[in-house]
Amino acid sequence: MREIIRAEYSGFCFGVDRAVKEAFTVRKTKGRTFTLGPLIHNKDVTDKLEDSGVSTISEGEIGRLEKDDTVIIRTHGVTRAVYDGLKAMGVDIIDLTCPYVINIQKKVSEYHDKGYQIVILGDGNHPEVVGINGWCDNSAYITPTGEVDIPLKRKVCVVSQTTEKQRNWLNLIMNIAKTSKEFVAFNTICKATEERQKSAEELSKEVDAMLVIGGKSSSNTKKLYELCRANCEKTYMVENAQELAGMINNFDGAVRVGVTAGASTPEWIIKEAVGLL
Ligand code: F3S
Repeated sequence: MREIIRAEYSGFCFGVDRAVKEAFTVRKTKGRTFTLGPLIHNKDVTDKLEDSGVSTISEGEIGRLEKDDTVIIRTHGVTRAVYDGLKAMGVDIIDLTCPYVINIQKKVSEYHDKGYQIVILGDGNHPEVVGINGWCDNSAYITPTGEVDIPLKRKVCVVSQTTEKQRNWLNLIMNIAKTSKEFVAFNTICKATEERQKSAEELSKEVDAMLVIGGKSSSNTKKLYELCRANCEKTYMVENAQELAGMINNFDGAVRVGVTAGASTPEWIIKEAVGLL
């Protein structure tokens, strides 16, 4: 008999939950509605949203918008330039930037204005980091691992992408402390990320196989996979039940199977996948 153990914290975080609920509600009361980039990194959810009439446009397509359109800013947030541009166009903005991300944008803007060099731990191509960097005139030094290979200014302000790993954060702080005389550090890894990573990591030490459910482009899901894989060789990442069905044999012989899911994975996708185990 197989035992399926769900990580204590997994699936939708507060920011994503709020954004998805709001996006589906907004559609009922507004006219043409768009999200700037996919609302969340989960294709099943964005397909449903598209079916309900909310289309996704890229920042390069902002010029297509008309004055009465509604634009949803997703949890990752946007640069100051994009935000101001939308305001100037007079479109209706529904800002669903996660409050934790807004906090980072404010810190970065404040310390940039005070003359600090901004350092961001994270993936420079991820929309959240691109957005944050846009609140300090795109001047941040961005490091994905915590390694620092350029001389920094005398005064440094350090922040992190919300989905980063603690060990990368500690690595960065140690590296900055070696060279910098004056720095302020805001550990902006969000609580939901910490809880999901910690509980998945612990669970992966106790099971025969681990299933990680989440979108392919979801940064936090990938990190859950990496953390679990370090402890449990039979760790597999899938987007949904369909994908799991094609590789279910990998779980043959596994008596205790752990399950976790990224912060942008809805409950119905988790339930469908778990039903196959
Ligand atoms: Fe916000 Fe953290 Fe989720 S930053 S969107 S609560 S992963």
